[in-house]
Amino acid sequence: MLKNQGILFSLIEHANHLINAKSLGFTGDDNGVDETLFTRIAEDLESQGYSICPVALPEELATSLYQYQQGMDAEKFSSAGIGRGDAYLKNEFVRTDEICWITGESAVGRQWLGWAGELKNFLNRRLFLGLFSFESHFAHYRPGTYYKRHCDAFKGEANRVLTVVTYLNPGWNSADGGELVLYKDEHDREGIKVVPLLGTLVVFLSEEFPHEVLPATRDRYSIAGWYRVNTSVSERADPPI
Ligand code: OGA
Ligand code: MN
Repeated sequence: MLKNQGILFSLIEHANHLINAKSLGFTGDDNGVDETLFTRIAEDLESQGYSICPVALPEELATSLYQYQQGMDAEKFSSAGIGRGDAYLKNEFVRTDEICWITGESAVGRQWLGWAGELKNFLNRRLFLGLFSFESHFAHYRPGTYYKRHCDAFKGEANRVLTVVTYLNPGWNSADGGELVLYKDEHDREGIKVVPLLGTLVVFLSEEFPHEVLPATRDRYSIAGWYRVNTSVSERADPPI
């Protein structure tokens, strides 16, 4: 799959050159989009399938999300399950965090969805990924909780294409644990550890990178999101409307 992905990306790159040559590229509109950051993410995805960017989220957005999550009523969170809808299954062996889906009912939630939408548009223009929709949730890992090694999408049935995770923990350091460990493939046992510090952003191809969340000694706050392609067939809308 990674090999095919490589070929795909080379084709995409070639197509991009042609498009740029015809000056049909970006409109150059400046609506707060961090072109430098988004370009870096696109290039990382193209070359290695993942991108890890410290201090990526706009500072004001990161702080607002942090404050919002701190103030959120505890009962808005529910124990996390695996999958959604019929496939939703609580499994304490696999994950013990608590989540709250971001629906855009708060101003800061809408701001986050807006930012994620800009990233989606950028990556679609740049990499032709055909990303269609975005879903995301806040997650709270209490001390000692975890999310064991898993993949966010399965080959063949994948409509989750890209995973994005960002962290809402000021002053986190490695002694606090709670790292995200991103494995390069199913054989990798070592992985790359990401410290869940406020503003760090991780983006990766959902099918390709198994990952896990290690237990922490502090409360650990994050947002996890997924860009999906549209796999609707006539009878059934997926993602749900
Ligand atoms: C997830 C996930 C990672 C993290 O929610 O699927 O892998 O670091 N989260 O919070
Ligand atoms: Mn995951």
